[in-house]
Amino acid sequence: MQTVMSSKQAAGNAAASLVEDGMILGLGTGSTVTYFLDAVALRMNAEGLNLKGVPTSEDTAEKARGLGIVLSTLEETPELDLVVDGADEVDAAFRLIKGGGGALLREKIVASAGAKVAIIVGEGKRVERLGTTFLLPVEILPFGHTTTAQKVAAQGCQPFLRTTDEEGTLMVTDNGNYILDCKFEEGIQNPEELHRALSEIPGVAEVGLFLNHCDILVEGLIDGTARIRERNES
Ligand code: A5P
Repeated sequence: MQTVMSSKQAAGNAAASLVEDGMILGLGTGSTVTYFLDAVALRMNAEGLNLKGVPTSEDTAEKARGLGIVLSTLEETPELDLVVDGADEVDAAFRLIKGGGGALLREKIVASAGAKVAIIVGEGKRVERLGTTFLLPVEILPFGHTTTAQKVAAQGCQPFLRTTDEEGTLMVTDNGNYILDCKFEEGIQNPEELHRALSEIPGVAEVGLFLNHCDILVEGLIDGTARIRERNES
């Protein structure tokens, strides 16, 4: 059956073709990345590729370990050849919203260590304006989180603390922080300006706007094909 999941799988498989023997990879987080990990593990076993990967979350670390992918850290390998990660929204300028899986802080650090960053998405992630289909995740420290949330709200949004159940248990990230999911009624008018303003608020650990991180966009389609484009390519 052709579904959004098959478009994610197509993107994951296509991104595996970008991997070369000897590479140190950054391994993103999410369901599309899970398909990528499966496809990389298949190539590793079939072709005897020698690879290492730096995971962006405990979840990805566990999946990669289970597939026999050798893990590394940014301390051992501070520079990465290729980072492959998902996204929640992408616009025409390859600007992204990320953090749906709550891994945005490590994802941004890992992306910044990559010589190239490939973003893999299935159907439904392309938007004309960021913030129109997905709330913007902002990772904040637990200390003073109500004060931080008020300052975030002053940037023109309604922030909601992310919870994990109906009782309202707060979600805690791999870094011990909370996530604010921020609703912008008309979407985000000026992502660069908003990123700057939110980053200056004390208590904000990271903002889920990735404005200059996507070098290669791999878009999977429901028919199982994928399209690979470089940034600034017409
Ligand atoms: C994780 O924190 C996010 O940035 C993910 O990369 C994003 O949510 C994509 O998820 P899917 O691949 O599951 O759509």
